[in-house]
Amino acid sequence: MAEMTATVQFAKDNGTRFVGELLELLRIPSISTDPERVGDVRRAAEFCAAELTRIGMEKVHLIETSTTTRVGHPLVYAEWLHAAGKPTVLMYGHYDVQPAEPLDEWKSPPFEPEIRDGNVYARGAVDDKGQMWMHVKALESLMSAGALPVNVRVILEGEEEVGGEGIAAFVREHGDELKADVALVSDTEMFAPELPTLCVGLRGMIYTEIEARGARTDLHSGMYGGAAPNPFVALAQVIAKLKDENGKILIPGFYDKVQTPTADELKAWKALPFDEEHYRETEVGSTELTGEPGLSVMERTWARPSLDVHGMPGGFIGAGAKTVIPAKALAKVSLRLVPDMTPAESFAQYKSYVESICPKGIVLEVRLIHSGDPIVVSTDNLYVKAATEAMHSVFGKETVFVRGGGSIPIVGDFVRELKIPTVMMGFGLPDDNLHAPNEKFHLANFHRGIESIVLWLAALGE
Ligand code: BES
Ligand code: MN
Ligand code: MN
Repeated sequence: MAEMTATVQFAKDNGTRFVGELLELLRIPSISTDPERVGDVRRAAEFCAAELTRIGMEKVHLIETSTTTRVGHPLVYAEWLHAAGKPTVLMYGHYDVQPAEPLDEWKSPPFEPEIRDGNVYARGAVDDKGQMWMHVKALESLMSAGALPVNVRVILEGEEEVGGEGIAAFVREHGDELKADVALVSDTEMFAPELPTLCVGLRGMIYTEIEARGARTDLHSGMYGGAAPNPFVALAQVIAKLKDENGKILIPGFYDKVQTPTADELKAWKALPFDEEHYRETEVGSTELTGEPGLSVMERTWARPSLDVHGMPGGFIGAGAKTVIPAKALAKVSLRLVPDMTPAESFAQYKSYVESICPKGIVLEVRLIHSGDPIVVSTDNLYVKAATEAMHSVFGKETVFVRGGGSIPIVGDFVRELKIPTVMMGFGLPDDNLHAPNEKFHLANFHRGIESIVLWLAALGE
């Protein structure tokens, strides 16, 4: 108990320094999808490794990854295994971030972190550098007080935002090196401010590209318009047939494996503090919400598949006008999956449907960029119970269980390959602007997150 007081005191006394370090990490533009940022992504990995070494973690090293198509970004590994007879915790986070565009919508530049009104604004602030840093700082606090009561392995990845293939391969091939009793992931959100939340399910996804080709080369649209096929129009026609105006995805067989949430889950979701109109106004900011009628927003975003178009590169996008029929066009389309859908079957259904609705004169190619399994984790274990209690005591409120609409591909592998329960204790807020301009992290939640993790680890050591 005395150690616990010393640990929490250490975290309080050093809170300002912790934030300062986070700001340094946020300055590194570790955008995993951008080939020009390979060096920066590695620099972020080295920054994390150096800090893990400094706080006293052992065997700290980078693990190189690669996939069949490219060299991957490194994993960071660290361990401390001196709590004989106590559980081993695998702490996971990702140090890569999404691209920051559109840059002109940021109030302060994405890689020049700024603190305003108790929030730190930067790309990666909450997703996931800030939350990953909570793990490191909880460990530092416990170790400084000589109070780390469990064994710990840390694994950080640098390509979560591009599908996480490197870490998935590592877990498959070297699972024994990550042997643990439970995994901790802090990469999700709280349902509402001040409301301690555990995430118990995530959607999976398939991220795809559809390439449409028409003429051999770009053509003058006056000379050939009316006779030559237009790949953008073709893609628009294909996309329009992917889902109807009620949000129903029209791919044959797509819903066959979709499981309805349990009655208990649905009841719990109904009891959550949620005002649909407020959500529309403040989070979405559109004139209306879309999606399947008769289902709540929670059901639609957590327990139903969805389909989105992210961009359509190609053709003329410069200022003014250019009259051209582009030879080719691309659409980036992703589909979110829910239990018990599988990426392989869903992609096969999607591909054959898209090919079957290919417009005249067009050749389509449907490619899979990356994928991840949907997952629902078990809540019936002492790790989840300890997590609800740790968060309860920090926030002074009962912890709620939610699912997330987003995807963290590796969580499925922890459950299936390592066969360990995963606790998803996240401290983001609904308006933290993940993947969007002005991403932020509420610093009070950064500190409460550290304290919650400290209390959780302490409880597991008892
Ligand atoms: N942290 C998010 C996932 C998330 C966000 C889960 C909010 C629950 C609530 C993660 O970094 C993410 O954005 N994942 C990508 C994964 C994809 C690229 C494979 C996603 O969901 O788009
Ligand atoms: Mn994340
Ligand atoms: Mn993300």
